[in-house]
Amino acid sequence: MTPGTRPMIAGNWKMHGLAADGLALAHAVKDGAKGQAELVVCPPATLVAALAGALAGTAVAVGGQDCHMAAKGAHTGDVSAPMLADAGARFVILGHSERRGAYRETDPTVRAKAEAAIAAGLIPIVCVGEPEDDRLLARAEEVVAAQVAASLPEGFGAAGGVVAYEPVWAIGTGRTPTEADIAAMHAMIRARLVAAFPGQGATLRILYGGSVKPANAAGILALPNVDGALVGGASLVAEDFLAIAAAAG
Ligand code: PGA
Repeated sequence: MTPGTRPMIAGNWKMHGLAADGLALAHAVKDGAKGQAELVVCPPATLVAALAGALAGTAVAVGGQDCHMAAKGAHTGDVSAPMLADAGARFVILGHSERRGAYRETDPTVRAKAEAAIAAGLIPIVCVGEPEDDRLLARAEEVVAAQVAASLPEGFGAAGGVVAYEPVWAIGTGRTPTEADIAAMHAMIRARLVAAFPGQGATLRILYGGSVKPANAAGILALPNVDGALVGGASLVAEDFLAIAAAAG
């Protein structure tokens, strides 16, 4: 944890959740929320408005999972940042490795989306992380440093932007880096944030994501410069998500 930051536990529901089970999950998270971590649930776009309504005035905020870089226009199937904000979202996940992979999203694309998010008043949660080959070839830090340099727009610090370090090979696999490797990567990201955003970089939140579970959360969340977690699979089970939140303090 970084002194002076409030931990954040964000749930990335991915493409899971119809109205009934999504609302039930959101209510269970809200009812069980305690402690000081900021909780965010990021449901599919179809549920953002319903959850924002159900969670209004509670300790649980709502985020989107992606947004377009334009505010509006001829982009069939896309959702813009002002639309997410209008639906009640406060956050938006950007540059998740599933989008970087499946939709060939590049760092400049992610940066433009983050700029659009900030312009709409949303707080971007920008994901970075190395594929397994780069970890094996001992160039993980180099790859992630390049993503950090090219994915974060100028206003990121002032907007209180969040970085999520998610090694691609740890997502949904049950595998995680060693705690030493997580700490080393987060220290590198911290140094880059301090250099890029001198006013805010020391206290911007850096989340770890990739197979975070109740069993490993306490160890990961206690590491220096780990200011919370971005949780996929375990965020679909309220008691697991809440157990991870409790481990954040
Ligand atoms: P996981 O996913 O917790 O299921 O590994 C994390 C993510 O993709 O954000």
